[in-house]
Amino acid sequence: MCQQSHRSDPRILNRRTLQRDHRYLASVLRTGMDILDVGCGTGAITADIARAVGPDGTALAIDRDDANLAGAVQQYGGIENLRFETGDILALDDRFNKRFDIVTAARTIQWISEPQRAIRNMKKAAKLGGQVVVLDYNLDETRWEPDAPVDFLRFYGAFLEWRDVNRWDNQMLRISRPSFTQKAWSMWRATRAMSLFSAAILISLTPTHLGFGFT
Ligand SMILES: C[S@@+](CC[C@H](N)C(=O)[O-])C[C@H]1O[C@@H](n2cnc3c(N)ncnc32)[C@H](O)[C@@H]1O
Repeated sequence: MCQQSHRSDPRILNRRTLQRDHRYLASVLRTGMDILDVGCGTGAITADIARAVGPDGTALAIDRDDANLAGAVQQYGGIENLRFETGDILALDDRFNKRFDIVTAARTIQWISEPQRAIRNMKKAAKLGGQVVVLDYNLDETRWEPDAPVDFLRFYGAFLEWRDVNRWDNQMLRISRPSFTQKAWSMWRATRAMSLFSAAILISLTPTHLGFGFT
């Protein structure tokens, strides 16, 4: 089992918003819901989730990276219906069982070498009739417009190889498909297509931020 050992860049994570970077989730959130956000990073999206579910709802965020979590607490610790905890989705304890209307993970399962186990644990944490909403990239199919410079493509090839060596799937969409219902699958596919587009734009506009590939 290969766990993510590098740190996702907090400057990139801090720029994320629910509406732009986790669109399908934004469309299904309702006031009063209880949400678990797995792999919250610095908490920018989770803070938006807490605002969206309002004071009658709750957002609980877990991440295995204590440094990013500390940043999350510092920045968003004042939001009353939001809590951050250190946690690994592969080792989720029983107190999470059947507690949440939605269990979500954005750009997180793609860094876990046992994605089926992670999704099984997410399903366990969802209430009966709840939803699991996952957003990941299909990194093998990323394309750039206009064409990326040759040096960058060489870097990107090495990035994909590094991920292979660590057994992180570069086509997460394919591997997790059987775990989802048909409706969720097509929604998920649509969400991913949009996200791939924004990924490509970000890379081509900000070549100094090649670190994007690591988030
Ligand atoms: C790329 S960041 C995504 C952060 C945020 N969800 C977003 O979309 O901006 C991936 C996060 O997943 C966390 N992570 C990786 N493996 C994890 C695991 N097994 N359990 C919980 N969190 C994990 C990392 O520490 C990192 O903060």
